[in-house]
Amino acid sequence: MISRNDMCWCGSGTKWKKCHYPSTGPSKPSSPLAERYLKQYGIILKTPEQIEGIRQACQVTAKILDALCKHAKAGVSTEELDQLACKLNREYHATAATLGYGDPPYPKSICTSLNDVICHGIPDSRKLADGDILNIDVSSILNNYYGDCSNMVVIGEVSEEKKLVVDVAREALYRAIAILKPGLLLCEIGNVIESYATSRGCSVVNQFVAHGVGIAFHEAPEVPHHYNRSQIPLVPGMTFTIEPMINAGARSAMIDKDQWTARTTDGKPSAQWEHTVLITEEGHEVLTQLRDCEIIK
Ligand code: MF3
Ligand code: CO
Repeated sequence: MISRNDMCWCGSGTKWKKCHYPSTGPSKPSSPLAERYLKQYGIILKTPEQIEGIRQACQVTAKILDALCKHAKAGVSTEELDQLACKLNREYHATAATLGYGDPPYPKSICTSLNDVICHGIPDSRKLADGDILNIDVSSILNNYYGDCSNMVVIGEVSEEKKLVVDVAREALYRAIAILKPGLLLCEIGNVIESYATSRGCSVVNQFVAHGVGIAFHEAPEVPHHYNRSQIPLVPGMTFTIEPMINAGARSAMIDKDQWTARTTDGKPSAQWEHTVLITEEGHEVLTQLRDCEIIK
């Protein structure tokens, strides 16, 4: 094993820790722009090495999510999905970012949000049944890098109202992704999402937002999905989630006694889709888009 004080393998003549040692923590900003973004907004612009690590973590997260969605059928409990997530994380040498996160510590490895649950639903013995819509949210850590994504699964025949929120949430996410490029103001993400969702008769949850991600689970900036005025220009090296929560009825949310499960106040259905994205020089890359790639362990 190479140790931190050994000479670097690249032949630079400097120690490994000062050269090609994989950097994970919020390391020294690598450019004047990175320095300014960290100072002004608390945003970490990622280096190419960090981006590669985050890309790998995102691919593992996407693969786990894909497997869980395929397993989610009538008769399967959300607890069973959680157990499968634990097993897959182990197989990929990854860990769940959710397990033990926050206060009170989140108790499971994924979030499973059914029907009127907006987000942060906790897996339990409840079995999926015909007519349910389910959000599965996976956040995994691989080599200290984070990925975060979620999809909806429709079980059997569902109501028109449920079909609508599932479709609007997905389309809202992809419309927001489509405009991402350097120079775009952060507020445009929420503006695209809310104007589209309301044009289809749905509402946008504003009590939860998307977030920077990659080096930590929740980094700056906050990314609202609702109308807002954030003037932060997107720049290459930013990595963040977009995860609109769309309600069929009122936008308001309430939290259960478990202090996690967020549900609609009117009992109407809610849906959410999520990707982790990277801003590139040319535009963007959807890091949690499932790709046919080798995961280097
Ligand atoms: N994708 C969700 C988020 O970023 C996952 C939350 S996990 C929880 O907020 F542990 F906070 F519930
Ligand atoms: Co998230």
